[in-house]
Amino acid sequence: MANIVIVGTQWGDEGKGKIVDLLAEYADIVVRFQGGNNAGHTMVVDGEQFISHLVPSGILQGKTCVIGNGMVVDPEVLISEIDYLIEKGIDVSPEKLKISEKAHLIMPYHKRLDAAREEARQKQRIGTTGRGIGPCYEDKASRRGIRFVDLLDAKGFDEKIKSVSEEKNFLLTQLYSSEGISIDEIIAAYAEYRARLAPYVSNISLFIDKGVRAGWQVLFEGAQGTHLDIDHGTYPYVTSSNTVSGNACCGSGIGPKRITGVTGIAKAYTTRVGQGPFPTELFDETGDQIQKKGAEFGATTGRKRRCGWIDTVILRNAVRLNSLTGFAMTKLDVLGGLEELKICTAYTYEGNELLEFPADLNVLSQCEPVYETVPGWSEDISSIRSHEDLPENTKSYLKRIEALTETPIDIISVGPGRDETIVMKNSFAGS
Ligand code: GDP
Ligand code: IMO
Ligand code: MG
Repeated sequence: MANIVIVGTQWGDEGKGKIVDLLAEYADIVVRFQGGNNAGHTMVVDGEQFISHLVPSGILQGKTCVIGNGMVVDPEVLISEIDYLIEKGIDVSPEKLKISEKAHLIMPYHKRLDAAREEARQKQRIGTTGRGIGPCYEDKASRRGIRFVDLLDAKGFDEKIKSVSEEKNFLLTQLYSSEGISIDEIIAAYAEYRARLAPYVSNISLFIDKGVRAGWQVLFEGAQGTHLDIDHGTYPYVTSSNTVSGNACCGSGIGPKRITGVTGIAKAYTTRVGQGPFPTELFDETGDQIQKKGAEFGATTGRKRRCGWIDTVILRNAVRLNSLTGFAMTKLDVLGGLEELKICTAYTYEGNELLEFPADLNVLSQCEPVYETVPGWSEDISSIRSHEDLPENTKSYLKRIEALTETPIDIISVGPGRDETIVMKNSFAGS
């Protein structure tokens, strides 16, 4: 039996949704364990595109999907996502979607505080998605959060809202000169969410454990990417949760011995949306070309993604931080047509070579990438379905990345569609 974690290795949007949708065929349940609707995961099946923000990307394969305790959930967004999927004829009954009773709820004041804090930071803004993610995790850590189990207890919920509203109103009106929140409006709206979502809420740690004991295979779907991790990313330009594979355990209530493999999703180049350092970022025509050909616009906020060359310093960091057993490399088709490609192998800082990613952003901002230049390929590879049919230069590019990261590339994606994929090794198959 295999239980596989999928994580992003760069700064998010690596194509996790596509690979989770592909591998979900072999899993019994798909579990999201962190983040919220800051994520936007795209799946393309039979030419139709679906973007999921909260519901795990196994839903299109008809698998049972789990919203883990490590997630922060905006109930209004979740309900509209459920309705959207139902409209598309997809089964999103409480048999198919489970929400952890311990997952935290995003409240209207979290979204308001997210926006107010960004506004106040001005030039130092993080470029958050504005979905209230940071303020919700802050309340979780400061033990003021509201969980689904609290929502289900109507009387206790109303009292909790009253007790937190004093502080939130003080911050909003006094510190940020913004409008206060209406307790009555929150209580009324959340009563509706309670009625709608209560049938989905349960103890998911028990549910996953029972399933695993019965021989089910589990696919854990990470959101964001390793370099947006609150501990290991480019702090403070990060999200507010641990995005690395270890959090698949904490965020879903299982122990580490259950995990049998970790696949890191890496784009064949690098992108970043929002602020923060990005050593291999391109500011020239090549960057524009990749941005256009790769249609690099955020799936959540529609913002243009910053583009640059592949960076094996960050990929090696991701290998270590996540115990990656293999990579899935996406968007390889986008690089077709470029005469030459650059692979970042190290950084130089004050004349010295740095092979590891520095924690100090002042150091990182002065790092210059060291590039190896390799020949590109002109062929359109999007219809190729076997590794041996790839152009020689494409194979060499992949081989060089495997060598620099000491990690195999198990899956190659050559287009957004589920079938536009070359699977060399499937961690679920044969187990
Ligand atoms: P995620 O957040 O990691 O799930 O990634 P996003 O969905 O935000 O962004 C990835 C984008 O690339 C989506 O529009 C996908 O449909 C698209 N995509 C995924 N894999 C490929 C690929 O191999 N080639 C191309 N051209 N597009 C891809
Ligand atoms: P998926 O799962 C790319 C970025 C935001 C911002 C920073 C903090 O689709 O890969 P937040 O709203 O989380 O407080 O914003 O993190 N960010 C993402 N970037 N993909 C994502 O998710 C992201 N989720 C958050 O742009 O820089
Ligand atoms: Mg995304």
